[in-house]
Amino acid sequence: MKTIIEPFRIKSVEPIRMTTREQRVDCLKAAHYNLFAIPSQDVMIDLLTDSGTGAMSSEQWAGVMRGDESYAGAPSWFRFRDVMVDITGIEHILPTHQGRASERLLVEVMIGSAGDGKGKLVPNNAHFDTTRANIEHSGCATIDLLTADGQNPATDSPFKGNMDLDALEKLLSERGDDVPFVMVTVTCNSIGGQPVSLENLRGVRALCDRFDKLFFLDACRFAENAWFIKQREPGQGDRPVEDIAREMFDLCDGATISSKKDGMVNIGGVLLFRDRKLFDKTSNLLILTEGYMTYGGLAGRDLEAMAVGFREVLREDYLRYRIRSTEYLGEKLLEAGIGIVRPAGGHAIYIDAAAFCPHIPKEQFPGQALACALYEAGGIRSCEIGSVMMGEHAHMELVRLAIPRRTYTQSHIDYVIEIIMEVKEQASSLVGYRITEEPAALRHFTAKFEPIDSAVLTP
Ligand code: F0G
Repeated sequence: MKTIIEPFRIKSVEPIRMTTREQRVDCLKAAHYNLFAIPSQDVMIDLLTDSGTGAMSSEQWAGVMRGDESYAGAPSWFRFRDVMVDITGIEHILPTHQGRASERLLVEVMIGSAGDGKGKLVPNNAHFDTTRANIEHSGCATIDLLTADGQNPATDSPFKGNMDLDALEKLLSERGDDVPFVMVTVTCNSIGGQPVSLENLRGVRALCDRFDKLFFLDACRFAENAWFIKQREPGQGDRPVEDIAREMFDLCDGATISSKKDGMVNIGGVLLFRDRKLFDKTSNLLILTEGYMTYGGLAGRDLEAMAVGFREVLREDYLRYRIRSTEYLGEKLLEAGIGIVRPAGGHAIYIDAAAFCPHIPKEQFPGQALACALYEAGGIRSCEIGSVMMGEHAHMELVRLAIPRRTYTQSHIDYVIEIIMEVKEQASSLVGYRITEEPAALRHFTAKFEPIDSAVLTP
């Protein structure tokens, strides 16, 4: 097979500030070993998130110039709305400033304000943190209904994001009255960007019809999910990816989207409803906190950038490169004997930090130790997803390498691989960390750490 090249050339560049190990040791100390506290100027390869950190195309930048900043009814709004209706077939569209704003509005309209959700329960294949937090803020409980395969990082099953349909049927038959709506996240971020099959989405639809429930997609990475379906689901290989994406949307009653992922923009979100009454009610809520319903807290130029981005993300040469380049990183790490969540996800690779440094007990945060070591050795910023982030709820000690869209070339990724292999050779000298200061909630963003032993890696 020929090398799959980046299907773009570079028109505008942003210099990376090269740092030395000594400078990075100082940066780590000053940041109290929390990578969120490191200024991005001191990061060489930033794999903290794929959200809003990608590159826009020349057409998107042209859209930015075209942006009409009228308060109401700007042509930018109509262009954006028409693209979203065309892609999704869902008629009622609201723009929001990002995904979590769409989630907050969905919760308010479907469940109510804080306290109204007591005794209720929303199922998802696996809720993303902000979705869970918004639902739970209403007092409503959340439950993840992944299949057994989805919970096993070592298997290579094609659709690990699938909802456990038996568990959903049981839940709806036993507690149906308490379920305000059903949600499925495509791809499923919480377990590594794993896709959901069309067959599974059809199964969820059938159960929602039987139990008279509305079905919403968390469609942040809908295009990556559609590409996985085209590659992996029997009978789907010859279909245009737009058709597959359209069928995914045809199966649901609405969706929340963070455009910072497959919208290929730096800021923006969407909330979609098939039902006119829900849309009207939510429009009033949108005006209350986000803005008038033809801009929803965004500038006209942001709507233009989204209108172009949502089209570009469905180009097959882009998706082929996107999914293959993430897989390339995963493949090389596996070849080097480094454990990752398998198979490679769409937007990120998750390293098994517990296996990487087995001498560090989870109480001493092996994921934090690995994330700090990758920064010290190569200026790479990753994200711990383990006992620091999840506390006692952590099932695994992972380090996420999220890949921003159209931002890094293969040589950047080859460098990341080299650094990880270099750190692996010295893994036994990595030390654990203790927390010296932490807030009451969401501690991973602001906690301070110190190494339990002050030994540093030798270059
Ligand atoms: N749903 C999913 C599946 C997400 O991955 C995210 C964000 C959101 C909702 C919320 O969107 O950030 O625009 O408010 N995920 C980012 C990440 C933050 O790094 O995985 P938002």
